[in-house]
Amino acid sequence: MKPDDLDVHLLIEGLYHRYGYDFRNYASASLKRRIQSFLKTEEIATVAELRAQVLTDRACAERLLLGLTVNTTAMFRDPSFYVAFRQQVVPLLRTYPFLRIWHAGCSTGQEVYSMAILLQEEGLYHRCRIYATDANDRVLQIARQGIYPSKQMQDYTQLYLKAGGLRTFSEYYTAKYNNVILRPALRERVVFGEHNLVTDGSFNEFNVIICRNVLIYFNQTLQNQVHGLFYNSLCKFGILGLGKQETIRFTKYETAYDDLAKAEKLYRRRN
Ligand SMILES: C[S@@+](CC[C@H](N)C(=O)[O-])C[C@H]1O[C@@H](n2cnc3c(N)ncnc32)[C@H](O)[C@@H]1O
Repeated sequence: MKPDDLDVHLLIEGLYHRYGYDFRNYASASLKRRIQSFLKTEEIATVAELRAQVLTDRACAERLLLGLTVNTTAMFRDPSFYVAFRQQVVPLLRTYPFLRIWHAGCSTGQEVYSMAILLQEEGLYHRCRIYATDANDRVLQIARQGIYPSKQMQDYTQLYLKAGGLRTFSEYYTAKYNNVILRPALRERVVFGEHNLVTDGSFNEFNVIICRNVLIYFNQTLQNQVHGLFYNSLCKFGILGLGKQETIRFTKYETAYDDLAKAEKLYRRRN
């Protein structure tokens, strides 16, 4: 192991053994980039110095925890995913009297509210319970509020239209100062909660699991482990939705799903 890699390895092991934060199977290239950026922000010279500080300073460890995960998200991110969801998945969902949907790694909630809007427009929302989880409590606090900067609304409006939105996007929020507050009805059937995909197990059986732009940060071992969790948490013929750069191919569960919309990474559990 190169000296730089060894320092990163010891830092990640230290975080796990001292605090139980488990980044041991995250993809190392991305972890290294995040650590370098954290060193700059904290004005710490080396990874070895950071490790020494983290082990004795819980506040620093918590900041590092936030720094190690990427929380970027948007409403109707990758709008073609939502078009495919409307066309390929919604007709299947209509056949169920009640639906449980899990958004794993939901960050600040925009993905969850986008799904709530889509389901409302398709007349399915009242039949759904949406579980929206993330390992990071800070992002969940924002998600629960459903308050976002007004300046993002122009982009979100464009994405909503590209995603096949059926109404006027501004119907879904009220503007207040520099923010918008999403309509409380969009939260009515959503439960937000902390869940760590590395360390926590299954907590229900779902008709749909959406986990977008999360597995990309995990190595192959951890991707396989989390796919095991998803497979065991989906009902027969349940739907799995991944991010654009993610795939079920090359994982242990490749043959357990059929493609529903290949390019959009929408899969259906075989049985
Ligand atoms: C890039 S965001 C993706 C947000 C949203 N799914 C999207 O596609 O727009 C990745 C999210 O995964 C969460 N995450 C990272 N590791 C996790 C883990 N082990 N368990 C649960 N969530 C995790 C991060 O906290 C972050 O909010």
